[in-house]
Amino acid sequence: EKGTYPHFMLKEIDEQPFVMRNIINKYQNEDGKLKLDDDIRQAMTAADRVYIIACGTSYHAGLVGKQLLENIAKIPVEVHIASEFVYNMPLLSEKPLFIFISQSGETADSRAVLVEVKRLGHKALTITNVPGSTLSREANYTLNLYAGPEIAVASTKAYTAQIAVLAILAVDSAHAKGIELDFNPMQELAIVANAMETLCSQKEQMENIAREYLSVARNCFFIGRSADFYVCLEGALKLKEISYIQAEGFAGGELKHGTIALIEEGTPVIALATQEHVNLSIRGNVKEVAARGAYTCVISMDGMQDEEDRIVLPAVHAYLTPLVSVLPLQLISYYAALHRDCDVDKPRNLAKSVTVE
Ligand code: M6R
Repeated sequence: EKGTYPHFMLKEIDEQPFVMRNIINKYQNEDGKLKLDDDIRQAMTAADRVYIIACGTSYHAGLVGKQLLENIAKIPVEVHIASEFVYNMPLLSEKPLFIFISQSGETADSRAVLVEVKRLGHKALTITNVPGSTLSREANYTLNLYAGPEIAVASTKAYTAQIAVLAILAVDSAHAKGIELDFNPMQELAIVANAMETLCSQKEQMENIAREYLSVARNCFFIGRSADFYVCLEGALKLKEISYIQAEGFAGGELKHGTIALIEEGTPVIALATQEHVNLSIRGNVKEVAARGAYTCVISMDGMQDEEDRIVLPAVHAYLTPLVSVLPLQLISYYAALHRDCDVDKPRNLAKSVTVE
């Protein structure tokens, strides 16, 4: 039920702090240790390479998951779009483990890969919001998202839940491999939950940005580097699917290789600047597009801000920045769709769960 909310999407965006806290509770023992099945831990440590398979928003969460698993657990990871993987399978490693990420657990493209993976005799873990769903039943192992039902076609809380669970999985695998970490995922996720709450209370600001930049825009670009780039892909998908504005996410460094030709007087460019190691470079990209007429909106993080930034996100651990940087993009898309009189919860041509290949 929507309760007092005008749309499920807004309700689901607002639920994200609770979802983070729920995940903390579900994946933590009373003694504060992580609570994951032993067989999942064994499968992760036995794998010489992880293949993440997903579609749409879940694929974008997978891209962030790759960074987490590689940086924290030192496991090599490839991320693949399910529909491409079916006929374009890479040479697999000797001991692969497949991770399927799917909010619904019913996505046909992902299921087709799972069927093939099982035929080849490989192990699979499904990360899903729907226990008992097809992808969960047919895989060897399941991790639940505990995000509660997601009704709006545009995925929001499932994306952040997927990243949170992937971070916990990465830390659990690192512990199992004896890797020493200076990162307590539960403490850091609690800080994320508070940061999300702060951002959810700044809706007016997001609405103003949507009105100012997107009420009549024909297109919009999102730029970022490193993890910010992956969040840009997600921000662009959100905007396209509910507001029908042509939107793309680009890696800041790629601009000069072609994309910058698209910038005209007034083109909206939303830039994420939450990654300290590339802060100067992304700021350079913002200047480059602004010099060619772009109407720029920088979203940065506390400690890295410049005076002209439109949103300064509360600081969170460097591994977890996507969990907070995506939130303003979700809200900006929501308000852009609203201002353009679009059907926010049921955008044209789309279904919540895509059960055909
Ligand atoms: O249920 P799934 O996570 O497998 O769904 C995958 C995509 O269809 C889904 O994320 C889609 O891209 C959303 N509409 C994005 O908001």
